[in-house]
Amino acid sequence: MKTQFVRRRHELASAIKFGIAVIPTAAERIRNKDAHFPYRFDSYFHYLTGFNEPESVVVVIGGKPSRSILFCRAKHEEREIWDGFRYGPEEAKTQFNFDDTFAIDEIDKILPQLIENKDAIFTPIGIESNWDNKMMGWLNKTRSRAREGITAPASLIDVREILDEMRLIKDPDELDVMRRAAKISAEAHVNAMLATKPEKYEYEIEAELLYHFKKKGSQFPAYTSIVAGGKNACVLHYIENNAVLNDGDLLLIDAGCELDGYASDITRTFPVSGKFSGPQRMIYELVLDAQQAAMEATSRGNSWQAPHDAATKVLAQGFIDLKLCHGSLDKVLENREYSRYYMHRTGHWLGRDVHDVGNYKDDGQWRSLEPGMVLTIEPGCYIRSAPDIPEQFWNIGIRIEDDAIVNQDSGCEIITSGVPKTINDIESLMSA
Ligand code: GLY
Ligand code: MN
Ligand code: MN
Repeated sequence: MKTQFVRRRHELASAIKFGIAVIPTAAERIRNKDAHFPYRFDSYFHYLTGFNEPESVVVVIGGKPSRSILFCRAKHEEREIWDGFRYGPEEAKTQFNFDDTFAIDEIDKILPQLIENKDAIFTPIGIESNWDNKMMGWLNKTRSRAREGITAPASLIDVREILDEMRLIKDPDELDVMRRAAKISAEAHVNAMLATKPEKYEYEIEAELLYHFKKKGSQFPAYTSIVAGGKNACVLHYIENNAVLNDGDLLLIDAGCELDGYASDITRTFPVSGKFSGPQRMIYELVLDAQQAAMEATSRGNSWQAPHDAATKVLAQGFIDLKLCHGSLDKVLENREYSRYYMHRTGHWLGRDVHDVGNYKDDGQWRSLEPGMVLTIEPGCYIRSAPDIPEQFWNIGIRIEDDAIVNQDSGCEIITSGVPKTINDIESLMSA
């Protein structure tokens, strides 16, 4: 039995005191006509349950003792023949360690009773209007019984404030899955480098990535892969992946798999031919130095902003040295002249969602890094063609992205280091 889900429900129960938390999983979505998108559970719901089935709701009731309840699909012989196994309430109760379970069809009857006389309801607010409406319906049903002496919760609170903080610090079970997800993605990037040749198409390289993700047990890509040859790399969210790869160009790949609900997120940029040109080398080394500086700044107690500041400073000085920016370092940083080539941040929280939950500021100040936080470190440089830019740098787009766990003592653990990133290592892999 996986105890981490029970532990998380207890933690939520203590945080809500005498309230009740009600969290639905994601709805199934139609893709077209009667075909569905592949089903993916809601990240919050799954964090608390480990339960994969759609049409489920978890309820956590605070107080002593606290209780947790699951609503899920009833067993259904015919539907199981067509669509596959369902746990049903009885088996879900023992397998997933709930105090009680009910068929989802009973929720309209039972939930208004569960919220009776509770102080507050904690639920996701304003994400799905269907869910907001249902919650209001149950609340109003309870309110309508006031003359029987029943009180309805007076406050409706967004449960994400509590869950986001919990999810921000990963527990050992989560870190274990994230390391495994990162390893699969790193191997996929190595395969993609080995498969890259001039005249191939971007989608052929994407296929190598997706093949490896699936082959190693990943359920989905964590996000749509970016496979961007040449100037396409200067489009930050390029996902067409349908252009031919030209000898002499770089290829930027931003791709990561999702494993058991956890994302990985890696970017590598390398030459299509296997050999960097002179100008490509100059920009690549600069981005790699910026990433190194950001990694060195990733340590407990440092501000969230420290890795970004460290990377930006290295990049800005490099842009001045290469005559891409002009003036003193202080001036280029102050007036953000560097942002013409480096317009995004150096990282984001990583977890169940690729851009994971958790505030970046606390009381208006950048928060401090803490052990168990997981973040990406991903500086880049994107140079479009323009008359005032030396032509040798036109259309070079480079990003180098790794995933880091903030260590207990100091520094960080890079969990994506299985894919090469120095010029020597990339060139020797690609010439093998
Ligand atoms: N792949 C999304 C990102 O790097 O933020
Ligand atoms: Mn990222
Ligand atoms: Mn990425």
